[in-house]
Amino acid sequence: MNRVMKRIYSVIALWIGCCWGGMAQTPVYLDETKPVDERIEDALSRMTLEEKIAMCHAQSKFSTPGCPRLGIPEIWMSDGPHGVRMEHVWDDWVHADWTNDSCTAYPALSCLAATFNPELAYRYGYALGEEARFRKKDIILGPGVNIYRTPLSGRNFEYMGEDPYLSSVMVVPYIRGVQQNGVAACVKHFALNNQEKWRDTIDVVVSERALNEIYLPAFKAAVTEGGVWAVMGSYNKYKGTYCSHNDTLINRILKGEWGFDGVMLTDWGSAHNTDEAARFGLDLEMGTWTNGLTWGLSSAYDQYYLAQPFLRKIRNGELPESLLDDKIRRILRLCYRTNMDRNRPYGRKLAEEHTAVARQVAEEGIVLLKNKNDFFPIRPERYRKIAVIGENAVKRLTQGGGSSELKARNEVSPLQGLIEVYGADRIVYSMGYASGAPDYNRALPSGYDADSLVRCAVAAAKGADAVLFFGGLNKNFRQDCEGDDRGSMELPFGQDDLLDKILKVNKNVGVVIVSGNAVSMPWLDRVNGVMQSWYLGSEAGHATAAVICGEVNPSGKLPFSIPRRLEDNGAHHFGEMSYPGDGTTVVYRDDILVGYRWHDTRKIPALFPFGHGLSYTRFDYGKVCTDKRVYAVSDTVRIRFELANTGAMDGAETVQVYVGQKSPSEERPVKELKAFKKVFLKKGERKNVTLEIPVAAFAFYHDALPGWTVEADKYRIAVASSSRDIRRTTEVEVTK
Ligand code: GLC
Repeated sequence: MNRVMKRIYSVIALWIGCCWGGMAQTPVYLDETKPVDERIEDALSRMTLEEKIAMCHAQSKFSTPGCPRLGIPEIWMSDGPHGVRMEHVWDDWVHADWTNDSCTAYPALSCLAATFNPELAYRYGYALGEEARFRKKDIILGPGVNIYRTPLSGRNFEYMGEDPYLSSVMVVPYIRGVQQNGVAACVKHFALNNQEKWRDTIDVVVSERALNEIYLPAFKAAVTEGGVWAVMGSYNKYKGTYCSHNDTLINRILKGEWGFDGVMLTDWGSAHNTDEAARFGLDLEMGTWTNGLTWGLSSAYDQYYLAQPFLRKIRNGELPESLLDDKIRRILRLCYRTNMDRNRPYGRKLAEEHTAVARQVAEEGIVLLKNKNDFFPIRPERYRKIAVIGENAVKRLTQGGGSSELKARNEVSPLQGLIEVYGADRIVYSMGYASGAPDYNRALPSGYDADSLVRCAVAAAKGADAVLFFGGLNKNFRQDCEGDDRGSMELPFGQDDLLDKILKVNKNVGVVIVSGNAVSMPWLDRVNGVMQSWYLGSEAGHATAAVICGEVNPSGKLPFSIPRRLEDNGAHHFGEMSYPGDGTTVVYRDDILVGYRWHDTRKIPALFPFGHGLSYTRFDYGKVCTDKRVYAVSDTVRIRFELANTGAMDGAETVQVYVGQKSPSEERPVKELKAFKKVFLKKGERKNVTLEIPVAAFAFYHDALPGWTVEADKYRIAVASSSRDIRRTTEVEVTK
């Protein structure tokens, strides 16, 4: 039944109802013809104090109670950013083992970021939102947009890299896509969740400038451009106060400056104080148990900070009821946007289109880092025997990792994808190394004998024409997993040693790193090809094989820098207090110089720079021109140049524009990404590319003012294929 028919029926029903009921008046809060704010006030006026208190905290692991007496439905939510998580039992972190809660597993957001394709981000969000809607979720607990500050952080795979502009551009369409389905996106974790180690307690000390230039922009874009309906607070503290009830972050910035009109909810168990939760902008408390000490209290939810303690404080006059009313207004607004909107679509799951989106994001996200001797692509008939080695060619990587775990209906492994392309007779597989099963907060043994795995793998490599090594990290504890960080950048499970032994018997080796974080590559000079792949989800094998065999030309670009050594990363340059801190406090001494901003400004070249990604074809950049030479602050710089595909394959190039101020009054990064565009070109094709940058985007945040300022000065415009591969430059001037 389409929307028009539904609208006609509901008007007829309303008319009949009025006539039949002797002109009985539809209550305003249920009357769809009334403005939402009026309906909210009407509903609020009908609710008792107890009903309002009940609505602002959990009733189960993933739901809140609504107001049954008034017909206001429960709110149901689910993780996560990459797909709709399997169902859990009412009150525990235990899978409910339903038989109809499998999903499409989309690639991790680090992969989506690597596509540099905002249109794809919309399709990703829309597909995820469709599945969430079908699974009756009113909030999907994603996307995550915390900045990649250190290569060790356990959740970087869930986020969109080191650059605030890239994250900002990619998060907006994702949110719009999700919410098109009448499902709230929930941008997280607000804010400064840039490490998992000690995440529950760590107090982040960071300058106002770095907070505004690096760590907040993606959240601001999510709210002011994406119109996100929910925001999740992080576990950590900022300025000594927990972020889930933080006056500066929530009342002043999020709800004040940005005008956020949605619901601010906790991470699970991230509320710690009733007065702060009431006063500092928390609207909805979710969690495990209130104080974390008395597990399984029969009425644990009643003990939540926004439950009985809040009720008592209102009753005895310590806290005004108006604080509660504002929370309820926001929760009701979320209901009218979701489960009380009778016109929202019905959703669907596991559709072909969902699989197609998952595959395209995976294909466009894979990054070709190195390609010597034309190792890639490996055309199907090129070799008689290819040895595929490594656990990551077969390991189910949609499981584990913490709350973004998924029950994928399908997960095509790289090995399966390769066999489908090259045929089983050309492929010999050997695991080479093994990790244990993924588990939360503990590393399990693999059960395999490591030495025999190595011997078998070396034997397989010896007899092959080429070796494809699938290594990297996985979703196990202290790998790419929520709750803690890695201890180093080295590949785990003896992979470096195994590669060393393989290279002794076969020189023709390509490495595919599957991870959400940078890893060190001591073998780099000795291998022919390297790809940075990701947790690609349901279509991992099909996408990986398509890129390896050349059916798809890789177009991914690194969303983060890969340092030569951990110490070359800015967060690790200033000692323990800068990362991971002392367990109580961490000080962001790298300040605004995160990622390539650090590498390029401090002249410490990365092994592979932000924005790097090779292609099977060639792209030539023509002369760059701008529409003017001198600009006012209110102007927009228009940059034009011709891009040509001068190679033998169709392909896509993400052209990037970095801006650097010539003589700033304060230290600034030598360059910052201010525009990018993914341009698809057939072989031999050439296109005029135009990119626009508002001069206001040249601003930096001045701690002293405080606020954003654009200084009259000259600015270098670098048109590039990566943050280090500058193809053309020009210069413009800004006058006051
Ligand atoms: C977890 C995660 C958060 C997730 C929530 C619910 O602790 O930090 O991202 O959405 O709890 O599972």
